[in-house]
Amino acid sequence: MNKASLLIITGLVVGGLATTLWADSDDDKYEHGFFARLFDREHESREASYLNNPQYSLYKTECGDCHMAYPPNMLPKPSWQAMMASLENHFGDNAELDQESAAAISAFLETNSAGPKQGEYSRKVWRSTQEVAQPGRITDTGYFRAKHHEIRPNMVLNNPDIGSFSRCDACHSSAEQGDFEEDDVRIPGYGRWDD
Ligand code: HEC
Ligand code: HEC
Repeated sequence: MNKASLLIITGLVVGGLATTLWADSDDDKYEHGFFARLFDREHESREASYLNNPQYSLYKTECGDCHMAYPPNMLPKPSWQAMMASLENHFGDNAELDQESAAAISAFLETNSAGPKQGEYSRKVWRSTQEVAQPGRITDTGYFRAKHHEIRPNMVLNNPDIGSFSRCDACHSSAEQGDFEEDDVRIPGYGRWDD
């Protein structure tokens, strides 16, 4: 190896490390460093692949009536399993399903749940849930909290157009498609989010 290529490699490693450390010191500790972000690009197309799943329309019909059909990659597998096992007492509602639909939806959610090898959001959610007890809600995951802690609760809870942080689609117009692009966030009554 000649000097020039050694220098380039050293530069890349140091640069990569520096951006990783930088990302970790950011308020969002679930962001990745430079190399991981390069790698993420390859996975972006896989991020919302659940929309093409044959069970998606059943999921949307059965679980998208009271609230939006949440992207399955926003919770890890054990969280979905626990939720699907207690639908008769679902956040104070009864969301019970016939056995066949429940089995199909469980399989759909588990296959597309947050995991270490899926898309970017999926991996960040998964990482953020490995340190704590399994979250019962998306809004209880470390990743969700890291991304929304700057939003004052009264902007949401006392806002007649939102009312709850669980209303992802109130601020993220393409939430059901798994698209949470920060540049597209609009908070009703407040407009675009600049941070
Ligand atoms: C009868 C109405 C109803 C049905 C049907 C229903 N849900 Fe819910 N769900 C709720 C309510 C109410 C909440 C709590 C929302 C809140 O706190 O603002 C909730 C919350 C959730 C949350 C947590 C959102 C958060 O705060 O992070 C998830 C995930 C969820 N539901 C998934 C499902 C799935 C999967 C199904 C289908 C098996 C389903 N729901 C069907 C009423 C329903
Ligand atoms: C009151 C408006 C509001 C609601 C409701 C809301 N979000 Fe957000 N969300 C935001 C804002 C604002 C940001 C950008 C935060 C920042 O700049 O760091 C964001 C960022 C995100 C990001 C990170 C995007 C990225 O590319 O870094 C994800 C993922 C996300 N939200 C998912 C959700 C989910 C899932 C829900 C529902 C359970 C939800 N949000 C509900 C306002 C909202």
